[in-house]
Amino acid sequence: MVRAPFTVLVLATCVFALLLTTTTSTDARLSALPLRAVAPAADAASSARVDLGRLLFWDPILSANSDVACATCHHPDFAYTDGRDLSLGTNAAGLGPARVSIVGHDVVPVRRNSPTILNVAFNGLTADRPNGSPDAPMFWDLRVKGLEAQALEPIKAHDEMRGDAYSEPDAVAQAVARLAANAEYRELFARAFGATQPVTARNLGRAIASFERTLVAGNSPFDRYMHGDADAMTPEQVRGMERFETAGCVNCHSGPMLSDFAPHVLGVPDHPQLEASNAGTGTYAFRTPSLRNVGLTGPYMHNGVFTSLGEVLNFYRRVSFGGGRGGRRGAGFGQRGLNPNVAPATRDPLLRQLNMRGRGQGEIIAFLQALDDPDYDRTIPRRVPSGLEVGGHIAR
Ligand code: HEC
Ligand code: HEC
Repeated sequence: MVRAPFTVLVLATCVFALLLTTTTSTDARLSALPLRAVAPAADAASSARVDLGRLLFWDPILSANSDVACATCHHPDFAYTDGRDLSLGTNAAGLGPARVSIVGHDVVPVRRNSPTILNVAFNGLTADRPNGSPDAPMFWDLRVKGLEAQALEPIKAHDEMRGDAYSEPDAVAQAVARLAANAEYRELFARAFGATQPVTARNLGRAIASFERTLVAGNSPFDRYMHGDADAMTPEQVRGMERFETAGCVNCHSGPMLSDFAPHVLGVPDHPQLEASNAGTGTYAFRTPSLRNVGLTGPYMHNGVFTSLGEVLNFYRRVSFGGGRGGRRGAGFGQRGLNPNVAPATRDPLLRQLNMRGRGQGEIIAFLQALDDPDYDRTIPRRVPSGLEVGGHIAR
């Protein structure tokens, strides 16, 4: 009974994947987003999986203290980010920039800036990697591959959803046990996955990933322009796009996601609130982020250290002019300077090739804003099966 629509879906997905590989493989270094996100063959979506995934995404039952949901840090009011420089997880309350530690708890912020979940299903999509790749790169330092695997990580993370209740190796099993003890979740998992014991860690990841693949926002002015509507972008935005290419931004921010999904050493300054310098996996290399919806997802960079696109552009100016010559000049600029722990010689050579002369910054910013598609899914479930506060402790 459940199988028949599945087979149809899998087939439809395969046909779609074929269509997409033929229509998006152009030589252009910038291109429109495909219409739909394809799931890896083993993890095909169904409406039962998507609906379950949405509830899980909003339900703080996944956190040890019943106070944090995925949506706490990836909320539609902030284009599925939290609008903060650094995220605040368990033992805090409130939403977005207004979120604060609960009295009596001195919550350590997460070391990183929360990326948007919009279009995350397209992570890894480049000219040589297809839509729906199971090894799609995740996180600022690329340490996890694939949406299904990623979804279990926040449950284990001390500063996000786990807190002090149990140890990291126990975290996912504990969350799965809470779900299995809930009759409504047992039924929803059975409907989505069949089988006699459907409430498993693997199916938890699959349901959340199925939901995330529906959070697609690919109807920006840029997409409409690339589809042939010459009036979709303003003349300033079109000039900005040309500058984006001639300045050399496109050497890293390329393809339909405006990212090569590769690590690069930029030397972004450390966040002053964090005690230790954050070198990522050791070299200060961070992944090129997608620039889709970038006008809606500030603050910027892996640690949210820049509050506006203007600050980002100023950073690129500094790093292209002064960055190659010793970097001492930048050290005095505090939060807006260059990172004194990153030796200039280790910075990506593509930065020195940036052509940031002239006054084109405003045009580049106008182009970046043409990558926004504010018409995304903002659905908030009215209730979640645990009966806890929808989205975690986000009410003020
Ligand atoms: C306390 C805030 C917080 C919570 C709760 C949280 N996240 Fe995140 N999320 C982040 C931060 C911060 C990052 C970036 C971490 C890094 O790269 O080191 C991130 C990264 C991600 C990414 C990778 C995006 C990309 O482009 O690489 C995905 C997907 C994601 N989160 C989904 C989820 C899901 C699903 C949940 C719930 C199971 C969740 N998050 C819970 C803050 C949070
Ligand atoms: C050498 C590769 C490279 C080049 C060239 C490059 N970028 Fe980036 N870009 C990155 C990386 C890597 C990051 C993340 C760095 C970090 O977080 O430490 C980034 C971050 C950004 C961000 C912040 C996005 C966010 O969500 O936080 C913006 C905006 C941006 N770049 C725009 C540009 C523009 C405009 C240009 C051209 C002037 C440019 N980039 C050139 C690799 C590059």
